[in-house]
Amino acid sequence: MPNFSGKKRVLTGITTSGTPHLGNYVGAIRPAILASESESNNAYFFLADYHALIKTQNPHLVHQSTLEVAATWLALGLDTEKVTFYRQSDIPEIQELTWFLSCMTAKGLMNRAHAYKHAVQGNIDIGEDEDFAISMGLFGYPILMAADILMFNAHEVPVGRDQVQHVEMARDIAQRFNYRFGKHFVLPKAEVDRDASLLRGLDGRKMSKSYNNSIPLFLSEKQLKKSINRIKTNLLEPGESKDPDSSTVFHIWRAFASRQQIEEMREKFEQGIGWGEAKKQLFHLINTKLESPRERYYELLKNPERVEFILNKGAQKARAESKIMIEDLRDAVGIRPLS
Ligand code: TRP
Repeated sequence: MPNFSGKKRVLTGITTSGTPHLGNYVGAIRPAILASESESNNAYFFLADYHALIKTQNPHLVHQSTLEVAATWLALGLDTEKVTFYRQSDIPEIQELTWFLSCMTAKGLMNRAHAYKHAVQGNIDIGEDEDFAISMGLFGYPILMAADILMFNAHEVPVGRDQVQHVEMARDIAQRFNYRFGKHFVLPKAEVDRDASLLRGLDGRKMSKSYNNSIPLFLSEKQLKKSINRIKTNLLEPGESKDPDSSTVFHIWRAFASRQQIEEMREKFEQGIGWGEAKKQLFHLINTKLESPRERYYELLKNPERVEFILNKGAQKARAESKIMIEDLRDAVGIRPLS
C-alpha cells in the first residue's frame, strides 16, 4: 500500500453545483480550513465537479460554481502550499478507479443508498415509474465518491450527516477489494462535526439551498444587510424580554461571536433589545468577519486565471500520488504489460 507520509490524511469534496452560503461556511469550510492548519494532518480538499453533473445539466452553473467554490476557499485563507487542493476532473485516475470499484460493488449495495432510495420513493409517491429521471450517475454516485476517498487512502472524511452512509459504503467497497486483491486501501471513517450543518436559515429551518432560506456567503454589504433583515422573528416589541435560545437571530450570532459576545447578547435579549437593533449588530459582526475575504473573493472572480493556475498546481501534486496508486491497482487486478 503506498503511503505518502506518516500523517493522518483528511479528505473532503465540495460539489460544484451552487454558490457557497453562510451555512456551508460555518458547517464545512471554516472547520475544514482550521483542521488543515494542524501539523498532524495532511489535508486533501477538492472540487467535486464530476459529482455536480449528477445534480445539474446546466453547464454554466457547473462552470461558474467551480470558480466560486474555489475562490471561496482561497479567499478564506486556505494554504494551498500545505493542503492538496484540486479539481476532481483533473485527476483522470479517479475515473479508472471508479471502474475498478464498480466491478467490485454489489448492485444490491447501491440499491440501499439513501439518495437513490429517496429518488425512487419520490417517484412512487407521485405515481411515476420507479426509475423515472434516475440516471446511472445517481445510482453509482457512492462508487465515484468511494474512488475519491480511496484514491488518496484517506483515514478521515469530514462530511455532513447525509453523507455518512456513502463513507461507510466506501469502507465496505475497500474491504472487499482488499480481501480479493491484497491490502491496498485504508478503511476510511466519516467524521461528523456535531455543530456542522446546523446553521439555521432565514425561516428558522436548517440553512439549505433547497429550502430557499440561505444567505450567500459573499453578498455585497448592502445585500447582506437586507438579507439579515429578512430573518424571521416574533412580534415582541423593543423593551420586551426575548428568549435567545429559540431565536434564529441569536442562533446565527452564536456561530460568529466570541464566548463573551455570546453572553453579552444573551443579556441584551433578556433586557429586551429590539429586533431591528439585534439584526443591526448581527450584520456588523458578520460583516467585520467577511470584509477582507469578500474583497479577495471578488478579486479572484475577476481573475479566474489565478484560480486556474492554483488548481493546476494542486492537480500536479495530487496526480503525483494518484498515478502511483493506479499503477499499483492495475497491477493488482492483472492489467499490466505482458513482458
Ligand atoms: N457527495 C458529497 C456531497 O454532496 C461531496 C463529495 C464528493 C465528497 N466526493 C466526496 C465528500 C468524497 C467527501 C469525500 O456533499
